[in-house]
Amino acid sequence: MIDKLMRFLNKDILCLTGDIIPLTPFAILSPSTGKKGIKIGKDEFNRDVYLDIDSLPNPHGIITGTTGSGKSTLARSLAYRINKRQGTKTIFIDPHGEHAFFVKNVLKGEVIDAKNVPDILEPYCYDSMDWASELVSIFRDVYTLTDFQMYFLRQAFVKAIEERSIENAISYLKDSYDVSPLIKELFFKVFPVLKFFKSPSTNISVLLEKHAVDVSLFSIQNRELSIFTTLVLLSQIDSFMKSRGVQNKTETIVIVDEAHRIFTLSSRNILVRAYQETRKFGYGFWSINQLPGQIPYELYQLAGFLFFLPGPIEYVKELESIALLTEDDRDFLLYSIKGTAVFLRQGDPRPIRVILENIKEAF
Ligand SMILES: Nc1ncnc2c1ncn2[C@@H]1O[C@H](COP(=O)(O)OP(=O)(O)OP(=O)(O)O)[C@@H](O)[C@H]1O
Ligand SMILES: [Mg+2]
Repeated sequence: MIDKLMRFLNKDILCLTGDIIPLTPFAILSPSTGKKGIKIGKDEFNRDVYLDIDSLPNPHGIITGTTGSGKSTLARSLAYRINKRQGTKTIFIDPHGEHAFFVKNVLKGEVIDAKNVPDILEPYCYDSMDWASELVSIFRDVYTLTDFQMYFLRQAFVKAIEERSIENAISYLKDSYDVSPLIKELFFKVFPVLKFFKSPSTNISVLLEKHAVDVSLFSIQNRELSIFTTLVLLSQIDSFMKSRGVQNKTETIVIVDEAHRIFTLSSRNILVRAYQETRKFGYGFWSINQLPGQIPYELYQLAGFLFFLPGPIEYVKELESIALLTEDDRDFLLYSIKGTAVFLRQGDPRPIRVILENIKEAF
């Protein structure tokens, strides 16, 4: 039967449609990105490549690359273009203070030292009970707590939030000191953190009005405290933006450098929740991380766009488990020099190999 069919086909037909699909221009060329948004560089056919966050399913993004591959430089370049050319407010959460010079001198924005702590008792869109629970779960992620300790800490935070006084939380825990050795242990874990946030001088709503801000955490030497501060800040930014309701344009981008630091225990951490839930609240989180496996796999699936910078074989293999990369993408990531990236947009499975055109002020 098949023989008969093939003989019939052989007479007039040179090849079947399926055979020529790989030779058609659409299959050979990577997709064009259009001309909206910010320019990021050129593809290998010399076409301009653009990132338009408002045309993506969500404005959240990820920049992944091994150490020294150029992640922070790319982030600054994107920030410059989105801030200066598109008017999008830009906030860096900057663990080492490395973006401070750029924000101050290039974006003409403001640098906020971590000593100017935010008011952690301000719940924005949450009620007291829910914000207390959020603070406790952040605390648990960073410092590990038993369920019993979490219960007591929640009570302490509810009191503190309702009366807007960190002192209240401290004295509540101090008064319960003798109830159990676990409370005593809790007190010694919590006390230095509460003391740190005792006199707040940064208001998230004021911070979010500025056109560019670098929140430099450089002066916080204690790693746990730096992570706790980052998580609270992200959660408050999220809460404040949500309290304003749905927005049809992305007004603010929050760039979280070294985002892998903040993934400790909870897979429901604020970044995962934000990538899942906050498509329309007028802000996007851009996470920068080193090895792909250091942040939850879920985040790559949720993000509106991804940049993979070149790196060694083990790193590229990890990337292959995250995204559908072709052999050419793989070789590009393995053998390219600095200044290139594989760029992916949610909704389009075809990666784009990009020669980045970072602005000179970003270096
Ligand atoms: N496109 C590029 N072309 C040439 N040099 C670059 C490029 N991007 C970054 N660099 C240089 O590479 C060095 C590392 O860059 P950068 O700090 O951005 O890397 P990183 O990936 O953020 O590193 P880390 O993981 O340590 O934070 C810097 O000296 C920077 O100027
Ligand atoms: Mg960096």
